[in-house]
Amino acid sequence: MVDDLAENRRLLVALLAPGGYDVQTAANGADALASIRANPPDLILMDVMMPEVDGIAACRAIKLDPATRLIPLVLVTSLDSSESRLAGIDAGADDFISKPFDIYELQARVRSLLRLKLYTDELDSAEAIILSLAQTIEARDHTTHGHCQRLSGYGVALGRALGLDPDDLAALARGGVLHDVGKIGIPDAVLLKHGRLTQAEFELVKQHTVIGDRLCGELRSLRKVRPIVRSHHERYDGSGYPDGLRGDAIPLLAQVIGVVDVFDALTTERPYKPAMPFAAGAVELRRQAARGGLRPDLVELFLALVERGEFTAP
Ligand SMILES: [Fe+2]
Repeated sequence: MVDDLAENRRLLVALLAPGGYDVQTAANGADALASIRANPPDLILMDVMMPEVDGIAACRAIKLDPATRLIPLVLVTSLDSSESRLAGIDAGADDFISKPFDIYELQARVRSLLRLKLYTDELDSAEAIILSLAQTIEARDHTTHGHCQRLSGYGVALGRALGLDPDDLAALARGGVLHDVGKIGIPDAVLLKHGRLTQAEFELVKQHTVIGDRLCGELRSLRKVRPIVRSHHERYDGSGYPDGLRGDAIPLLAQVIGVVDVFDALTTERPYKPAMPFAAGAVELRRQAARGGLRPDLVELFLALVERGEFTAP
C-alpha cells in the first residue's frame, strides 16, 4: 500500500493484517514503482494525493509496464473527488475506494481483487506452459532450428504488408511460435523419420493441428492464435488438413502462416532434402500458388518482401 502519510499506512496495515495478508508499504510513488518492480505484489492500494509522483502517474506507469500491468490496482480517493476518479480510470486503475474507509467494504474489495489475481496468474502460467512446450518441440528436431522465430518474423512482415491491425500482428508473432505445438503428441519415430512416411504415419502427423488446437484450449489470450494452429495446413483448393477448408473459408491468419511455413520448409534443410536458395524457393512457392494450393496475392505480397531483401537466408 502506498501513502505519503505514515498515519494512513499504519491504519491500513492494522485493518488488513488480521486477514493474514503480508502488507508492504511505500511512502511515495517513486519508491512504490521501484519495490513493485523488484518484488511484484498481488494487489496495490495507492493513495492519489502524493507529492512528486502522484498516485495517478504511478498507476499509469504500472499499467503501461507489461511486467506489472496485470496486478490489480485500487486508487484511494477522498469521497468527493470525481475528477481524480476520471483520471484514475484513464490511467487504468481497476477499482477505487474512498476515505474514510468502511472496513467491511475494504476487506471485501481486497478479497475479490486477490481472487481475480489468482485467476490471471493461472491463465498466465497455462500460457507459459504452452509456449515452453513449443520450444521443447523445436529442440527435439534440430533440423528445424530457428523455424519458429523465422515464421514469426515472416508472418508479421506479411501481416504488416497486408495492413493488419496490431492484434492480428501479435497473433501472427505467437502463431509462428505455436503453430506446431501439437507435434508434442506425435512420436519421435514418426516425426523425425528419414524417408517417406506410410499413409498411417501421415495420418498421425496430420493430427498435430487438432492436438495443438486442443492444447490452446479456452485460453483467452490465445483466442486469435488457435485458428492458426488448427488451419495452417489447409490449402486454398481444399486439399489441406485437418478440415479440408477451401478458399477464404480458411482463416486469413492461418493462410499467412501457411504461406510462410511452406516457404521456410523449402528454403531450409530437412532430413529428406537440402535447403533451396531463396530464388528457387520463390519459384516453387509461385508454382504451388499456380496449382491452387496457396492464395496467389498472398504469395506475391510475401515474395515482394523476399525479393526486396527484407529477410536473410537462414
Ligand atoms: Fe504444422
